[in-house]
Amino acid sequence: MSSRGRFITLEGGEGVGKSTNLAWVAEHLEARGLEVVRTREPGGTPRAEAIRGLLLDPATDEPLDDDAELLLVFAARAQHLARLVRPALARGAWVVCDRFTDATFAYQGGGRGIAAGRIAELEAFVQQGLQPDLTLLLDMPMEAAQRRLAGRLDRDGGERDRFERERAEFFEAVRRAYLARAAAAPERMLVVDADRPLAAVRAELGVALDRRLEAWR
Ligand SMILES: Nc1ncnc2c1ncn2[C@@H]1O[C@H](COP(=O)(O)OP(=O)(O)OP(=O)(O)O)[C@@H](O)[C@H]1O
Ligand SMILES: [Mg+2]
Repeated sequence: MSSRGRFITLEGGEGVGKSTNLAWVAEHLEARGLEVVRTREPGGTPRAEAIRGLLLDPATDEPLDDDAELLLVFAARAQHLARLVRPALARGAWVVCDRFTDATFAYQGGGRGIAAGRIAELEAFVQQGLQPDLTLLLDMPMEAAQRRLAGRLDRDGGERDRFERERAEFFEAVRRAYLARAAAAPERMLVVDADRPLAAVRAELGVALDRRLEAWR
């Protein structure tokens, strides 16, 4: 195994099963003897989580400007990379992250309509070439994912955040942008049909992970 850890991201729209499967991916890697750091974006460190709070706050008294939203996402990312992700990778840990820059292209790009070129400039500035080694894109029709989300909110309570309150067209645009990203980076991004029983989704994730583990050894 090489000395640098690997960076794995989970992506997809609201309610597709990212958090559920992240826990499983992390355990799968740990069972193979790897040190795993679980984290998420926006967030992952106390200050970055504070920025997450600003991004998700559904208060409507002062709408959040689209450019401000984009810059906050990358501000949180800079902090997360500097304080958590890069140090973990440097010591050989594997980092499994719930959402990363593909989400920025999907939500701020596809959803809000910010030009991809502008996002790519910030990506280059903040990431300095760092990219996920593998991205698992959980994909499913929006309506079915919305039903899952509603089920979770019914069960666990909680309010819909700023993004969860968006309209159907927004989520369709997010999904299209994610799939376009995956089509443009087929080596890095694996599209997984998330509209199946969890066992089937996990079986596919497990095969994909084990194949990478073998190749990276
Ligand atoms: N394959 C599946 N089949 C049925 N239900 C699922 C499946 N995967 C996840 N769920 C359920 O759907 C709900 C949403 O899953 P989860 O919270 O993991 O999604 P998420 O992508 O992290 O959502 P969010 O974008 O809101 O963070 C949960 O109640 C979870 O138990
Ligand atoms: Mg989640």
